Amino acid sequence: MVVGKIKTLIFGAGGMLGTELCLAFPDAVKLKSTDVDIRDRKNVIDLIKENRPDVVINSAAYTAVDDCEDHQELAFEVNGKAPGYMAEGCALTGARLIHYSTDYVFNGSNKEYFEDDNPDPINIYGSSKLMGEINIIKNLKNFRIIRTSWLFGTHGKNFVDTMLKLSKDMSAVKVVNDQFGKPTYAFDLANKTEEIIRLLPGIYHITNEGICSWYEFASAIINNAVPCTSKDFPRKAIRPKYSVLVNTKTTPMRHWREALSEYLKLRN
Ligand SMILES: NC(=O)c1ccc[n+]([C@@H]2O[C@H](COP(=O)([O-])OP(=O)(O)OC[C@H]3O[C@@H](n4cnc5c(N)ncnc54)[C@H](OP(=O)(O)O)[C@@H]3O)[C@@H](O)[C@H]2O)c1
Repeated sequence: MVVGKIKTLIFGAGGMLGTELCLAFPDAVKLKSTDVDIRDRKNVIDLIKENRPDVVINSAAYTAVDDCEDHQELAFEVNGKAPGYMAEGCALTGARLIHYSTDYVFNGSNKEYFEDDNPDPINIYGSSKLMGEINIIKNLKNFRIIRTSWLFGTHGKNFVDTMLKLSKDMSAVKVVNDQFGKPTYAFDLANKTEEIIRLLPGIYHITNEGICSWYEFASAIINNAVPCTSKDFPRKAIRPKYSVLVNTKTTPMRHWREALSEYLKLRN
């Protein structure tokens, strides 16, 4: 059991969630993509051995869902193999690993997904993230895999900012109304992570509360969103229709509307 102050090492410190994690864990060793390429197995394991953290947190990932279709090898190396190297490093040093995965490990044919439901990804990003989960579980017992969805936050490209920009440039913004999920504020997730570290090993589903379609999410951000179907708005990667993650293991976070309103106030 980890008691009192813990020593933490963060991979992916420069990303949207990673930046929030750096604020939530100010004393952590913070590694950005300029400090380490997580595809380098030896370097990843050596960094864990040298720093001897109690907890390794991995928020590094190749997150461009459509680009993953064209860069499959890169997706599987970053999202699939690299988390396994971190798990190896943690197994050697006794550290616990916190890793983020995605609602896109599911195929979207169920209306909601529990932590022990069978993954069945329908795009390369989801398949590569599932490989990451499998490689962690294979190499380490002391892991917490946090599946989350539809992240937005201050430090990166995200749906909220995209909507605000498009809304200024266009008279009407078409947004799909047939994919459903749970928006999640990176700030809330980073702070919740402190709690998950102390819970039992396993898979966690952590999102803000509340289910919506992308169109409903957009309508809470801008006033000129118009609904369309996925067929009207084809993308390179197929998306699951329902990617609603159900959390049965810990206390719920606040509703996404409350988190969004805080984020929008911060942006102004
Ligand atoms: N964003 C979402 O909607 C969403 C939804 C569900 C789950 N997640 C998961 O949540 C986690 C955090 O996502 P995020 O949105 O914060 O991602 P992000 O903003 O794209 O950040 C990912 C970070 O990983 C770094 N990275 C990429 N390849 C790397 C490599 N080879 N070596 C070292 N660092 C590398 C990136 O650095 P560069 O920018 O320099 O490449 C970036 O700083 C990820 O595991 C993601 O799969 C995200």
